[in-house]
Amino acid sequence: MSDRRVAPATRVNARVAVPGDKSISHRALIIGSLASGRSYIGGLSPAADVAATARCLRDCGAWVRDFGRGRVAIDGAGPGASLQTPDGPLDCANSGTTMRLLAGALAGHDAHAALDGDSSLQRRPMARVAEPLRAMGAVVETSAAGTAPLRVDGRRVLRPIEWTPQVPSAQVKSAVLLAALSADGPTTLHEGAPTRDHTERLLRMCGVDVSSDSGGSIRLTPGEVAPFGYRVPGDISSAAFFLCVAAARPGWRVRATRIGINPTRTGILDVLRSMGAAIDVDAANDDATEPCGDIEVRGASLHATSIAGALTVRCIDELPVLAVLATQAEGETQVFDAAELRAKESDRIAEVVAGLRAFGAECEATPDGFVVNGPVRLRATRIDAHGDHRLAMAWAIAAALAGEGSGDSVIEGSEAAAVSYPSFFEDLDAALSGSG
Ligand code: S3P
Repeated sequence: MSDRRVAPATRVNARVAVPGDKSISHRALIIGSLASGRSYIGGLSPAADVAATARCLRDCGAWVRDFGRGRVAIDGAGPGASLQTPDGPLDCANSGTTMRLLAGALAGHDAHAALDGDSSLQRRPMARVAEPLRAMGAVVETSAAGTAPLRVDGRRVLRPIEWTPQVPSAQVKSAVLLAALSADGPTTLHEGAPTRDHTERLLRMCGVDVSSDSGGSIRLTPGEVAPFGYRVPGDISSAAFFLCVAAARPGWRVRATRIGINPTRTGILDVLRSMGAAIDVDAANDDATEPCGDIEVRGASLHATSIAGALTVRCIDELPVLAVLATQAEGETQVFDAAELRAKESDRIAEVVAGLRAFGAECEATPDGFVVNGPVRLRATRIDAHGDHRLAMAWAIAAALAGEGSGDSVIEGSEAAAVSYPSFFEDLDAALSGSG
């Protein structure tokens, strides 16, 4: 376990370049492994989660060559013909995306695999992905509790389905779409609230016929997956920590460069605006697959806000750090429709509330979210990240926002940040010391 000390920030004026988007990186690797030929990826996320996906793909016989600094080449032989039965269980480590998306990709192959992970992943719900894959004709087993380890006995040719996931989940949607590449007809999914659509965009980039309508229906017609060259944009979920710290005080500023600004991911910008921060987005026009650009946030005297419905889905991973920011805003911030937070890397409703209280904040858990009352002067504390990367980083931001003179906070288990952002603490140090 490694401890990190974080001191209250006195001024923030920084330019930050965060690593490649984790969600897009997983998909680029998996879709590359299913394409007919060799694909090249740049800007791949250095996240431990993404490394788990690469390792599992190699264990299934995929050729993945790492040239360093985010550059990777990967070979595929087409849907149904790319992945083989691994020698032993696939270790998905802490990564729900790895487990769920690979289950979908493997379901469409004549392959038999067990997928397992760490104690956090073993607690996360997997029936939601097993059910549609079974309906397509794969044999998929979970534990009696509907959790990992998963066993997938795939079929080279699956049945097309029409499916409405019970909870909005990009991972479930993506698993079904990846399996649907091996179906003998078009598959349709119906989404209640739009979730991140990176799988759809990357598949379209590879020439697959994937259509989405305004009513939330997505239809994939199986076809060849063309190999590609693609540079992954920066991860808005990683940039979020810097954007939030800048938003907290008038006069503070952060510019995050070349960030993915896919509208299914930019809920955080809407929330920051609604709290009174000034946001400028300079869109680049050199990526036809995923919108990207520079985001600049300038801080203000913030006021409370309410996050609910489709907006909650569009900032689900940013809610812990937004909760930290809400402690600095005037009034009661309310988060609704976020029961899914209980099924993330930790129970993020319980952990966020317990952690904020340790910093001296006033907040309450609700069944599907939390309420935070502000503004309060946070006080430095010693706090455990409980193995959750987004909590380790959110607590670093709380530490940076603690009252001047309250001393350093200590984040125990800070190494968890490497699950999505290995250089987070170094980058935060640089941003807070004005050299970022
Ligand atoms: C992700 C989807 C979301 C998100 C997770 C990454 C993805 O999870 O919270 O961090 O890459 O598809 P759900 O699919 O469970 O909503």
